[in-house]
Amino acid sequence: MDGHPTKFLRARIRHALFTVVPDRITGGRLRARHLSQPIELTKIAISQKGWPRAFDGLKIAHLSDFHFGHLATSDRIREAVTTANATRPDLVALTGDLVDLHANDSDLLFAELAQLHAPLGIYMVLGNHDHLHAPRQVVRAAMDSGVTVLMNATAEIVRGEERLVVGGLDWSNRIALDAARLRDLPVAPHLLLAHNPKAFASAIERGIPITLSGHTHGGQIARRTRPQHNLAFSHRFSSGLYEREGSRLIVTRGVGAWFPLRVHCPPEVVLLEVHTLAE
Ligand SMILES: [Fe+2]
Repeated sequence: MDGHPTKFLRARIRHALFTVVPDRITGGRLRARHLSQPIELTKIAISQKGWPRAFDGLKIAHLSDFHFGHLATSDRIREAVTTANATRPDLVALTGDLVDLHANDSDLLFAELAQLHAPLGIYMVLGNHDHLHAPRQVVRAAMDSGVTVLMNATAEIVRGEERLVVGGLDWSNRIALDAARLRDLPVAPHLLLAHNPKAFASAIERGIPITLSGHTHGGQIARRTRPQHNLAFSHRFSSGLYEREGSRLIVTRGVGAWFPLRVHCPPEVVLLEVHTLAE
């Protein structure tokens, strides 16, 4: 184990109290109801300044927060993969919390995720849950299945004379750390993956066109008609699409959860279509 022993212990206690015990008390009904909620497909189309022309119309499937484990089995991951593949994306972005607690079954998770089809590749960053037990095991399973893991790094996709730079930040809960990591990247990305939407503050400063995040689960309990009014109180950017100073952020509600309850906040796969806005 190369994670955080104290945080891992705390997460295990929380898992027992808020997931296992309520599930036992309800005779398994809480978990069954949670897993029976269909995964929604959310389509977002934007025109974005600073987006390379050669990648006009690019389709990105954005999936996050699987929390593979007790509340998300291989069947659930397959459902998300099928939803994403049906959109025929050019590129797939996975924005962290791949596993819930233990990393031991990462190979099983990535056996499912390897079925994602995207000609320009699958890119991934780690979330806080991936760091609890054995992050290296998660990374190794991802790489073995052909996923590009971006740990404060960039990857470039070339089309003709132009290139699309995809960047990824490792898990962080500190805006100053995000800013420093972004400054250290060799080149500013067009598309940034960061588990925590708090990274958007630094992305705006750096003029990054698009940031994709997860982490909040859309608050899990939201007002029926106002999804951005939800229980993720500590997040200014908690669900959906945001625009600040010409930069865009998408925060997905994610596929899974660590607590088996979602109200007016269904699990989702996002399909983002990006068009180049002439400057
Ligand atoms: Fe999460």
